[in-house]
Amino acid sequence: MPTTLRSHRVRTLIEADTIQRRVDELAREIDRDYHDTDGLVAIGVLKGAVIFFSDLVKRLHVPVLVDFFQTSSYGAGTIAGEIRIKRDIDLSIRGRDVLLVEDIVDTGWTVRTILELFRFRGAKSVRLCALLDKHEAREVDVPIDYCGFQIGREFVVGYGLDYGERHRNLPYVGIVDFDEKEPKP
Ligand code: IMP
Ligand code: MG
Repeated sequence: MPTTLRSHRVRTLIEADTIQRRVDELAREIDRDYHDTDGLVAIGVLKGAVIFFSDLVKRLHVPVLVDFFQTSSYGAGTIAGEIRIKRDIDLSIRGRDVLLVEDIVDTGWTVRTILELFRFRGAKSVRLCALLDKHEAREVDVPIDYCGFQIGREFVVGYGLDYGERHRNLPYVGIVDFDEKEPKP
């Protein structure tokens, strides 16, 4: 966790009740698409997706197992082949339907890497549900099967997303406005 955060303000981008309504809709779509599954495994990406994940899975009516996966990338940016696994799932996914739940798809490298790994392990199907899609920042093509909202290139926090581990508990998603007078650390 960085000790020096740039001074900043958080400006609301997506209101809490708008998020909740969208999560309702996504859960209904997922329920419909998996009504005849014989084993859905929902896998949340730690830590950013945790709040979205818990709101989503408690609205599902199809039988679902839950698990978590955690990654990190070397250095500041996300680069191909540089995604580290910090925590792997506990459950076996061979022959099962897998739904990966992520907070935000930015360059796409994180989810691309995880989805490929799950396919390699013999999942019956692998789909992606992401709260936010920063499509302008994409470096690698990843179809998002269930997408909450498309946003621009702004850095966002809240509803699980952080800036230096802060703001994850906000019930809404906000844009971080940095104080331009302050020099970058
Ligand atoms: P990707 O591999 O570039 O798609 O990066 C995805 C990861 O970067 C996400 O899981 C987030 O942890 C992080 N990330 C990307 N954009 C933002 C943002 O605007 N706010 C907070 N975290 C972000
Ligand atoms: Mg993340």
